[in-house]
Amino acid sequence: MSMRPYIVGNWKMNGTRSLLSEARSIDRASARYPGVSVALAPPATLIAALREAVSVIGVGGQDCHAEAKGAFTGDIAAAQLKDAGADFVIVGHSERRAAHGESDAMVKAKAEAALECGLMVILCVGETLADRDGGQAEGIVARQVDGSLPQGEAAAAGVPERLSIAYEPVWAIGTGRVAAVEDVVAMHAVLRDRLVAAYGDAGNDVAILYGGSVNASNAAALLGAEGVGGALVGGASLTAEAFLPIVAAAGGEPVD
Ligand code: PGA
Repeated sequence: MSMRPYIVGNWKMNGTRSLLSEARSIDRASARYPGVSVALAPPATLIAALREAVSVIGVGGQDCHAEAKGAFTGDIAAAQLKDAGADFVIVGHSERRAAHGESDAMVKAKAEAALECGLMVILCVGETLADRDGGQAEGIVARQVDGSLPQGEAAAAGVPERLSIAYEPVWAIGTGRVAAVEDVVAMHAVLRDRLVAAYGDAGNDVAILYGGSVNASNAAALLGAEGVGGALVGGASLTAEAFLPIVAAAGGEPVD
């Protein structure tokens, strides 16, 4: 694989317009790392403004509905995200799987809807601490990804260029506990196998990101690990000061 590392910030339910200044700083500095693909997923309320504010980085949503339109109060369709200026969407984040009861089948339908309307997709999977302590992590994550991967025409058109997988152990998200590099490498290999089983050779070129307490101090080790194609970053993506060292860790020497 020779794709650019993909460093994505997930702002979750953080930020109002005043946080756009951080996005501008991230955008300006990212221009100096042409070897890295950088993106931010702000709350939906900021997508259009962020799109206006930046010129280099990608802009994405944090979730979408699987249906194209209709009576779904409070939900947002993939085409509406696109219309607001998004070029990708995160689906299946563990916070949505846990707090909104999203099943693998729902995540799959969302991923298919997003690909169909031309968005790129970051599909999240990851085990709980109980799964890991019980020695079940790899089996659980393999089943999750098998059940969540987009199929059919949408997938055929979008894989591998428009699909990424984010491996995010639930116990590592927002906790400051980061997975051991050897466990990340092992899980990325499991995911690669499942991607190839689903998509054949094209599965080799789907980027697999790591997420869960990535920060300036651990980014180089995680991004340098075999099979890790980038990072999905929560807390450390909210300021340029915290986020840019992660971009730098992915991109080597900056250009002037
Ligand atoms: P974190 O979040 O970096 O704050 O652990 C990662 C994520 O949820 O994507």
